[in-house]
Amino acid sequence: MNLRSKDLISIKDISADEIGHILETAAGFKDVLGRDIKKVPALRGKTTVNLFYEPSTRTRTSFEVAAKRLSTDVINIATSTSSVVKGETLLDTAKTVLALGADIVVIRHKCSGTPHFLARNIDASVVNAGDGTNEHPTQALLDLFTMKEHKGGIQGLEVAIVGDILHSRVAKSNIYALTKLGAKVRLIGPPTFVPDCLKGLGVDLYTDMNAGLEGVDVIMMLRIQLERQGKGFFPSTQEYFRNWGLTAARVSRAKKDAIIMHPGPMNRGIEIASEVADSSRSVILDQVTNGIAVRMAVLYLVSGVRE
Ligand code: CP
Repeated sequence: MNLRSKDLISIKDISADEIGHILETAAGFKDVLGRDIKKVPALRGKTTVNLFYEPSTRTRTSFEVAAKRLSTDVINIATSTSSVVKGETLLDTAKTVLALGADIVVIRHKCSGTPHFLARNIDASVVNAGDGTNEHPTQALLDLFTMKEHKGGIQGLEVAIVGDILHSRVAKSNIYALTKLGAKVRLIGPPTFVPDCLKGLGVDLYTDMNAGLEGVDVIMMLRIQLERQGKGFFPSTQEYFRNWGLTAARVSRAKKDAIIMHPGPMNRGIEIASEVADSSRSVILDQVTNGIAVRMAVLYLVSGVRE
């Protein structure tokens, strides 16, 4: 089986079978990454452009490493030091990178829908590396891969996603992916971050952290996205931590073998205590490592559709 599209824009638009195929392909690439020679010639002669209009540490470097492991040439464009600051439009920038020979454009943008717009307007494959508050599909795929690795499968898992759901593209992509694959999802946070309308996504909502964590297999903490919200969502960071911060006492409500996840970057002492983030239950750095294999799979599979 293959992906249906030359692009990966959203988890909402792909099937459970396609998600399964990406994860299987990623497992093969994870084996490659364990070898002495971690590189394969699969995409030799291709060019990947990382076009990031928002800051990133994990996603941008992970796509760069993934592309290099597949033997593509990689061009990184940080928009803060590009002609974007002179007023160049997104489409003109994209057409310029195509003229430079790009086969795959990986884009992060603060506006939801930007990758979709680009995919409709250029021939290269487009991969969404996070668009506004909409989706972050490769983050959800690496999260699924990490859950599978630690829990054996996704079907039937009880997964709690905690925090700023409203502004989180990571939460949205994970909700779509987990519900498609048969997991049960609980969303936990203050009512301002977990509005009732989210029930329509087939999830359970909790405002009480202890009740929401009872018996879960996976605790996925989210960053408070201070850059995407005005004031008034919660009184103070201290009060937020008191009510919704993940402490060792709260972890004890989950199953004994529950794992702790966070997409990063973390706000230590606001949404998660350091003793939890650095504990043996934390798989946060496994998520980062697995991101390389998952992004290799995505780059490889979208290239195949294009050809
Ligand atoms: N998880 C994530 O998207 O991290 P970065 O913002 O560092 O890429």
